[in-house]
Amino acid sequence: PAVAVIVVAAGSGTRLGRARPKAFVEIAGRSILERSMDAVSGMSETATVVVVVPDALVADARAALAAAGGAPVIVVPGGDTRQKSVAAGIAVLPEGTGIVLVHDAARAFTPSAVFDRVVSTVRSSGNGAIPGLPVTDTIKSVGDDGVVQATVDRSTLVAVQTPQGFPRAHIVEAYARAAGDFTDDAALVREAGHPVAVVPGDARAFKITTADDLERADDLLRRQGM
Ligand code: C5P
Repeated sequence: PAVAVIVVAAGSGTRLGRARPKAFVEIAGRSILERSMDAVSGMSETATVVVVVPDALVADARAALAAAGGAPVIVVPGGDTRQKSVAAGIAVLPEGTGIVLVHDAARAFTPSAVFDRVVSTVRSSGNGAIPGLPVTDTIKSVGDDGVVQATVDRSTLVAVQTPQGFPRAHIVEAYARAAGDFTDDAALVREAGHPVAVVPGDARAFKITTADDLERADDLLRRQGM
């Protein structure tokens, strides 16, 4: 089945403290969105790409992505929550799409190999697959009074990333039934009753959220000599 990748880039990115929406902030001369597109184009199989951006930036994004060359990209306006932005992407998936990956543009340095791993697991299992990394910090649950209640057994925990991949039917059904807000797509798909497996993630798939993360991104580029 053909693969489509929905890149959600419609967040305002207020925590970044920049004037521009996050995906349009540049790191060493190239935007977070452009850098995410590199990872998608590096996938071992060609995918249809849907990019979801703030309404006011649809025309700009179309022009920038066309100028960057590469395969044609479908650009659509997002919503005021990530979930609505993903739904906007799902609504324009071309017929014939069998596997859907949803990726945060803010995870601009995710290696293409992570995308490939997610696709091959969805294809071989017929179920969802998401990248995750073991939790290395000690995790505590804390009460309203700020006092530690317990230390959580971290051996069963993973910190999850994107791209998150699903058979198209699973994610379409999950979004059609969605009630309330979910923090990621896998939670919605699980809620709809479909299994989701975890595959190895990558530290470079960290989400750029704060000014500190931008510095981390700069360091990463310097080390890679890019
Ligand atoms: O805000 P946060 O960094 O968690 O958002 C994760 C991803 O979801 C980002 O790439 C952001 O652009 C996207 N997003 C979106 N529409 C929103 C909110 C977030 O596409 N309304």
